[in-house]
Amino acid sequence: MLVLGIDTSCDDTGVGIVRDGTILANVIASQSLHRAFGGVMPELASRAHLESIDQVVGLALSDANVQLGDIDVIAATRGPGLAGSLLIGFLYAKGLAFGLQKTFYAMHHLEGHIQSALASEPSLEPPFLALIASGGHTHLFDCQVVGQYTLIGATRDDAAGEAFDKVARLLELGFPGGPAISQAAKSGNDQAYPFTMPLIGQKGFDFSYSGIKNAARLAVEARNKGTLEISVSDLAASFERVMVESLVKTTLRAAKAHSRTTIVVAGGVAANQRLRQTLINQASKLKTRAVFPPAQLNTDNGAMIALAAWLRSTRAEPSDSLDLGVIPYWALDSSQL
Ligand code: KG4
Ligand code: ZN
Repeated sequence: MLVLGIDTSCDDTGVGIVRDGTILANVIASQSLHRAFGGVMPELASRAHLESIDQVVGLALSDANVQLGDIDVIAATRGPGLAGSLLIGFLYAKGLAFGLQKTFYAMHHLEGHIQSALASEPSLEPPFLALIASGGHTHLFDCQVVGQYTLIGATRDDAAGEAFDKVARLLELGFPGGPAISQAAKSGNDQAYPFTMPLIGQKGFDFSYSGIKNAARLAVEARNKGTLEISVSDLAASFERVMVESLVKTTLRAAKAHSRTTIVVAGGVAANQRLRQTLINQASKLKTRAVFPPAQLNTDNGAMIALAAWLRSTRAEPSDSLDLGVIPYWALDSSQL
């Protein structure tokens, strides 16, 4: 079973090809043009997808050493994401499926992130808990059976990656912020600034990052005025510490409460080494394991969409209608997957 997956939900044009659950190709055209703006410009993103999609599909086919006609299933992200960006990949995939008379699957972007863990662990099966932390999402899902996800926690304000990006901008470290903060944090003291854990004492499993972001802003202002003496690397390290602590503590509490012993961690923030090490260590003390997708699948990509679509094909699901449209705001647990 050969599946081609397309993701154009945000600013990366991603095309992946999977044969029976094994990734043959994963080509990503990243749009560096947004760097100058410190964030993604939706109009520019959709135009750039349009300009590159054909070429990215061609590169994926040649990497996988297959022909378009060999593909059995064409899958594309239906949502959530930027409307204009989603439209490019989704319409392209529908066109291919129509022209080639192939099965078409309209996919949920977050299911793609979750199932990207199949690349690290092909035998991954529910039940498991999934933390998705990226520039646009910070969600905790409980997956009881294949293809069904229950949202058990989410950010109340900023996404974790968004907080990394915004604080990196305050510290003038560049975009994207996550890797820049990690790099600066390497030489810093993570106890130097007393950021407080958000939502201490909550019974649920939500996240909140606007308070930490605000505290970082106040610290930077005080530093600029000369009333606080602290280095950028100390601030970056302290910020990274509290971010990781919040993600890990909430996730482990949720795993315990839901009696789950497997935790999947996906999305751009899953690339954070401190998060990986802390979660793996602390989970193992609870006889729980954390599964991270391979690094190249942390950010948005087409292979994760192909993997999730392949799972659907193993259940012999019929083709989705080519009349479907994109859904820019789409909750995973209300979708009919
Ligand atoms: O999943 P992703 O590629 O797409 C979006 O949702 O946009 O995630 C990108 C996010 C950015 O906010 C970036 O700063 C963050 O993931 N990120 C990281 C790291 N690498 C990327 N955050 C923390 N630590 C990292 N090493
Ligand atoms: Zn994403």
